[in-house]
Amino acid sequence: MDTIIIRGGKPLHGTVKISGAKNAALPILAATLLVAGTHIVRNVPDLRDTRTMLQLLETLGATHRREGTTVYVDTCELSGAEAPYELVKTMRASVLVLGPLLTRAGYARVSLPGGCAIGARPINYHLKGFEQLGVRTILAQGYVEARCKDVLTGSTVYFDTPTVTGTENLLMASVMATGTTIIKNAAREPEVGNLVDMLMTMGADIEGKDTDRLTVHGVRSLQPATIDIIPDRIETGTYLIAVAATGGRVRVEQCNPTHLPALTEKLRSAGIAVEEEEGAFTVSCSEQVERNQCRLRSVDVKTLVYPGFPTDLQAQFMALVIQAEGTSIIHETIFENRFMHVAELQRLGADITIDGASAVVRGISLEKICGAPVMATDLRASASLVIAGLVASGITEISRIYHLERGYENMIEKLQALGADIHRSSSTIV
Ligand code: EPZ
Repeated sequence: MDTIIIRGGKPLHGTVKISGAKNAALPILAATLLVAGTHIVRNVPDLRDTRTMLQLLETLGATHRREGTTVYVDTCELSGAEAPYELVKTMRASVLVLGPLLTRAGYARVSLPGGCAIGARPINYHLKGFEQLGVRTILAQGYVEARCKDVLTGSTVYFDTPTVTGTENLLMASVMATGTTIIKNAAREPEVGNLVDMLMTMGADIEGKDTDRLTVHGVRSLQPATIDIIPDRIETGTYLIAVAATGGRVRVEQCNPTHLPALTEKLRSAGIAVEEEEGAFTVSCSEQVERNQCRLRSVDVKTLVYPGFPTDLQAQFMALVIQAEGTSIIHETIFENRFMHVAELQRLGADITIDGASAVVRGISLEKICGAPVMATDLRASASLVIAGLVASGITEISRIYHLERGYENMIEKLQALGADIHRSSSTIV
């Protein structure tokens, strides 16, 4: 099994370009099932997860080809409506084919995703929403079978808590439903807005983009889409945090600074200089921090739905504040088990105590953060370990890096270009 080997202690300098957003590409690729034709999706990151989604579309009868960052998806002939366990267990976002298949075929049979490292990840809100549109759902043998009783009929759907893929699934199930669907307490993440843009280019009639109330007026037909995937705000935030942690200065390009309001404020509170411009950030440690005259300041963080601090940057931010002056409290409100990275950070010397849904991080001086073998447990935890490895003195070896490859395009090469001493190794560690 391959590992990543990092010799830490080197500040990052230079320029990095951000790839398309994984969490926008997945629902948008699923949405190509809505109507027969050739869809053009641009700025698609080449990741383990996007390859899995394309493989799933293939099992349903679609064909696809990639030319650079553009993917052409032909959904003229669908040969099935079933998403098998073998695929869904590797990527829970496979449930995103439910909505478009219900619209296209009136039927779908999708394996229940099961839990993952960060939580139980149920889809009860998705299923309740479908039922309100006139769908009958049956759970059997680990699968959910969804079938329209007659036609999809517009209704008012209310989510107890905002769900990103739940909102996306209900959007795709309602675009051709008879009448109007109102989705209340909808997720407002930019990736939902990117899907709304795609659906509108296909001819859908949707009001309320980027708000928590979406109104969908059912239409009678749709056309194939041409859409650009937005920049990945979580990849962007990961590099901003990595530079803050290593004490360098980097220009981050091909990104959207307006998508990271909470992180930029928290980085500035920690003593990081964050300059914003159209499509780019320049991030560096403040003069004093760079001259080691003072350490980063500790910062409290509470993860929230957008535009609050993203849960997908919680692990990475923890890897930053382990070196801060003082104590930082990191409170995770979205997932029930998203502290798997804590034990691994402790192996590098971090002083962290978990107290329920909070992690109490007591900052230690840089020289006490020492490299060691660690194990990735989930996608964002693996990014956290990379950041900590970039800071730690000596060698850090990270195993199970397939987690990282799910959501970061060419991360090793991008970090090498910024001066990091990092490489992949085929190791015997399992
Ligand atoms: C999306 O997952 C993202 N994935 C996640 O990114 C992200 O962490 C999450 O949103 C929160 O922002 C994709 O977009 C592919 P939710 P999703 O439904 O939609 C509970 C990454 O690292 N809930 O918004 O699955 C749920 O348990 C990944 O890129 C229910 O109880 O998350 C959680 O506590 C990880 N019932 C909360 O809602 C439901 O039916 C928010 O989950 C649905 C959700």
